[in-house]
Amino acid sequence: MSTLIEDVTARKIINSRGDATIEVDVITTEGFGRASAPSGASTGRAEVVPFPEGGVEEAVRKVEELIAQEIIGLYADEQEEIDRLLHELDGTENFKNIGGNTAFAVSLAVADAAADSYGLPLFQYLGGFLASDLPYPLGNVLGGGKHALGKVPDIQEFLVLPVGAESFSNAVEANVAVHKKLKSLLKKVDSTFTGGKGDEGAWAPNISNDEALEVVFTACKEVSEEIGFSCRVGVDFASSSLWDPKKRCYVYARDDLTRDTGEQLDYILGLIEKYNIVYVEDPFHEDDFESFKELTSKAHGCLICGDDLFVTNVKRLRQGIEYHAGNAIIIKMNQVGTFTDTLETTRLAKENGYVTVVSHRSGETSSSHISHLAVALNAPIIKTGVVGGERIAKLNELVRIEEIIGERARMAKLRII
Ligand code: PGA
Ligand code: ZN
Repeated sequence: MSTLIEDVTARKIINSRGDATIEVDVITTEGFGRASAPSGASTGRAEVVPFPEGGVEEAVRKVEELIAQEIIGLYADEQEEIDRLLHELDGTENFKNIGGNTAFAVSLAVADAAADSYGLPLFQYLGGFLASDLPYPLGNVLGGGKHALGKVPDIQEFLVLPVGAESFSNAVEANVAVHKKLKSLLKKVDSTFTGGKGDEGAWAPNISNDEALEVVFTACKEVSEEIGFSCRVGVDFASSSLWDPKKRCYVYARDDLTRDTGEQLDYILGLIEKYNIVYVEDPFHEDDFESFKELTSKAHGCLICGDDLFVTNVKRLRQGIEYHAGNAIIIKMNQVGTFTDTLETTRLAKENGYVTVVSHRSGETSSSHISHLAVALNAPIIKTGVVGGERIAKLNELVRIEEIIGERARMAKLRII
């Protein structure tokens, strides 16, 4: 059962947007691991730099000419040491030299290879026997912003969270039902609707932000009645994309209006109340910890989640904890680079009562590692879309994981604050 690393290779592949990304293979004496990196479109300013100067080709070269030599001969289960080495080889705070996505692919391929060497699925290698809770899938069903073109809503994502599901498989069926229901409802609301979708497989209709909320709310309500358990609405404002720093306001171009910070707060509080919203992500731009704090204290029974605010970064999360900003955090491993960094942030989040949401990115590959990470990290929510090959890769892997866990499988405890 040796996890001795004998070879490391890298190649350029494409992601779901057709953009280049990196894939890394790690071969041990008795196992094989592979991982590929996703990419964001509405990235946080404080994320690590995804690729070195020279792009994916240079990242591949860095693996083959620099990283491989250092890692070959180490053991794949020495994850912390390998992740530390990646930081050392890079030598910067933000993985500018080797690229955060390079670090991501190496770090995760190492974990994958260690799991395979032990003959275990990744979630069991990382999480052990106790990893038996399935996350609720948070599914993007309608959207706009930077994930689509044309006269789409400014708000990036309208989501569904099937909070009443008793199994992961049922939860996925509910999300799919809401997505399908929306197709028929949208034909009535938008006469120009072509069935067009954005980067994450969510419908991208020509409707206003409020119309979008109304139709998603209706779809959730009707599906909840049909399937017999509750599906609730979530929203990712991705507010850093709406924020105009010069005018100091949020620009809703589709609705031809702007909101200052106070108006944004009142608008969101009103929406939470009206549509019984359970989840709000990035309601304010990435540096406004103060407004996150205010919304968190005023919005009861709703998760207030930081994505661009925290960028899976332990220092930014510490700042958030001091402020009491938010009560949930997006965990995107490639925002920070390595598995060890991700684990540190996740642990701190849990110790401080933040709900962890393991998440895909808008540009994805067909890899399903985040499904394993969500179970291993005992995250109550996974945000990973509803349809499209690169999204169902994650959902279907969780259906398999639920089957592997068998009778011990249960839905994670979802504490809605
Ligand atoms: P991404 O953003 O385009 O950076 O992946 C998705 C999100 O904001 O959740
Ligand atoms: Zn987001």
